[in-house]
Amino acid sequence: MADPRHVAIIMDGNGRWAKARGLPRTAGHAAGEEALFDVVHGALGLGIEWLTVFTFSTENWNRPAEEVEFLMGFKEDLLTRRRDELHELGVRVRFLGDRHDPRVTDRLRAQIRAAEDLTIDDTNMTMVFAFNYGSRAEIAAAARRLAADIVAGEISLDDVDIAALSARFEMADMPDPDLVIRTSGEQRTSNFLLWQSAYAEYVFPDTLWPDFRTADLERCVEEYRGRSRRFGGV
Ligand code: IPE
Ligand code: IPE
Ligand code: MG
Repeated sequence: MADPRHVAIIMDGNGRWAKARGLPRTAGHAAGEEALFDVVHGALGLGIEWLTVFTFSTENWNRPAEEVEFLMGFKEDLLTRRRDELHELGVRVRFLGDRHDPRVTDRLRAQIRAAEDLTIDDTNMTMVFAFNYGSRAEIAAAARRLAADIVAGEISLDDVDIAALSARFEMADMPDPDLVIRTSGEQRTSNFLLWQSAYAEYVFPDTLWPDFRTADLERCVEEYRGRSRRFGGV
């Protein structure tokens, strides 16, 4: 089968990685940075066009305050330190999710914007950071836009179909993921790209995210190549 055009990753297992070493959970998040950048290089090498990574879910606010605070500060720091490198690699950075949430600091919002603006014309790969992201909220927002367009008379009820809803998603130009990887052995979606992954292939490596490298990504792609996608056909 053809190689995946869009690979999406649920980067899971940072806390367990740290716990196994007697370290605080936050050390696992910090260690995840090396995995992430190794995978960016690997994805570029494999010719992947879209790489989406789940960095913070709408449910992750329920974690202890110090962990949430660390994750926010870490994201800001990472974008500041590494946006030039992403730009040099020709990676276009985009954020998907609710950045306007009042719990997101203005400083982080500014760094998100700076990374997006710097890399806007980069064409080697698009990297989507799913941040403060939840698939159900995303679908509800698209439904709200569709309803508003119906009320405004821009679309009639009879014309409401899959394409009409898809077109109203926040990132409507993102192709559906072909391959979804969740590390750490957990086998669930945790509210990630539910609509878009209707026909994605899933791979669940046991590796904890901070240990994940290009070779692991290649193994997942290899597994994908061996799958037979039928889309309901034969
Ligand atoms: C994934 O690792 C990172 C985020 C959710 C931000 P976890 O922090 O969920 O690690 P585990 O699942 O507790 O090991
Ligand atoms: C999903 O992982 C979110 C991210 C990887 C950012 P979680 O660790 O939050 O998911 P659950 O709680 O195990 O379902
Ligand atoms: Mg987890």
